[in-house]
Amino acid sequence: MADNSVDSTVSMDKLVSLCKRRGYIYQSSEIYGGLASAWDYGPLGVELKKRIQNFWWREMTQLHENIVGLDAAVMMHPRVWEASGHVENFHDPLVDCKQCRQRFREDQLSEEAASAHRCPECGGELTEARQFNLMFSTHLGPVAEDGSLVYLRPETAQGIYVNFKNVYQTSRQKIPFGIAQVGKAFRNEITTKSFIFRTCEFEQMEMQFFVHPSEDERWFEYWKAERFAFYEKLGIRARKLRFHQHGEGELAHYAKIAFDIEYEFPFGWKELEGIHNRTDFDLKRHMEFSGKDLSFLDDQRGERYVPYVIETSAGLTRTLLTVLADAYEEEEVGGEQRVVLKLHPRVAPVTLGVFPLVKKDGLADMARELEQSLRQDVSTFYDQGGAIGRRYRRQDEIGTPYCVTVDYQSKDDGTVTLRHRDSMKQERVKMTEIVGVLNQATADYKREE
Ligand code: GAP
Repeated sequence: MADNSVDSTVSMDKLVSLCKRRGYIYQSSEIYGGLASAWDYGPLGVELKKRIQNFWWREMTQLHENIVGLDAAVMMHPRVWEASGHVENFHDPLVDCKQCRQRFREDQLSEEAASAHRCPECGGELTEARQFNLMFSTHLGPVAEDGSLVYLRPETAQGIYVNFKNVYQTSRQKIPFGIAQVGKAFRNEITTKSFIFRTCEFEQMEMQFFVHPSEDERWFEYWKAERFAFYEKLGIRARKLRFHQHGEGELAHYAKIAFDIEYEFPFGWKELEGIHNRTDFDLKRHMEFSGKDLSFLDDQRGERYVPYVIETSAGLTRTLLTVLADAYEEEEVGGEQRVVLKLHPRVAPVTLGVFPLVKKDGLADMARELEQSLRQDVSTFYDQGGAIGRRYRRQDEIGTPYCVTVDYQSKDDGTVTLRHRDSMKQERVKMTEIVGVLNQATADYKREE
């Protein structure tokens, strides 16, 4: 058992180091010295990302009969971004230090640095703020002409709005209904510190819920509560989550009201997801710019109207950082330090470690065979190298919630030792019952604090 000396305050340096060491996340183009703020997801990172995405997708689409999916192109007609207001409004105020040449977002400077107009790093004088558009642009086709300009989407939401009519006509949805999408988004961020928290290329999980204008407040409250609960189901500790309501100066150009769900990262409380009441702003702007009618004829109400949109906008890569930061713990066990990722079993990249107690006497063959058969149902990892305690520690460090060990008794009665990651408790289970026992343990999982 742990000696109760648990340290759950992770430092970013430790997390970054674990991510690299164990194959979660690597610096992009590392052999060339790395590309600032770009990261690659290794074998475990890609599994974790897919599991978070699949969990979100299941929660949003499979469990809601009135939410359907979409996968729109990253590049869209340039008029989309004029209509959305991004060409005109998607700016950050950029200031440079005249001395050390570092760049900052003026609105993110400390009060002290902002009022003195001094660099927070070296104290040098800052330039006047310039408005800097965050969208990346490129050209479609071999020749860069005015007409070929396209942007990489800075949010996935617009792909949903421009397909609103396609989707409701082809999926026979009636208002209220939602469209969900997961995909890459790109922003030329000025400051990209804090590992994968803010990057120029990232992934979003967005859902736009179309409602009658008179029902916007009710649905806004509904989605606020649903989305908060999502993070708890993902295994994030509730005490590390809170809402933050956007004040007048913070509201995006499209929002009537907005709440962020914030997480207490090692570098402070920061936004994890935004829930916005975007009113009919986007659909009306696309009607204006495209000349197409995007209103909805509501048979039940006998009324034609442009629906309001309640948006839930989560960062997939930011959620992954949250999951890892929240899961990281260091414990004293028997005088030694154990690093453990207390990931929820439903998202852990490896569900089950399978070990033979020793390699000899046919135990390795038996364990191998067991692992191969279990692969059909759970993600497994076979390990026969080193002392059993070390094998457990290796799995703890990557967050594997369960391990089974095949020993001499297994040969006699077909049972194995099942060891639980968090409590380190062990029990005997029949090999034929492992999958059922794991499924139940995952359904019942609750992290002890
Ligand atoms: N469609 C609305 C929208 O994009 P946002 O608040 O700008 O709203 C939503 O972004 C979420 O996307 C954020 O809460 C965050 O999780 C994620 N996100 C935004 N910019 C990001 C970046 N540069 N790197 C990583 N994640 C980002």
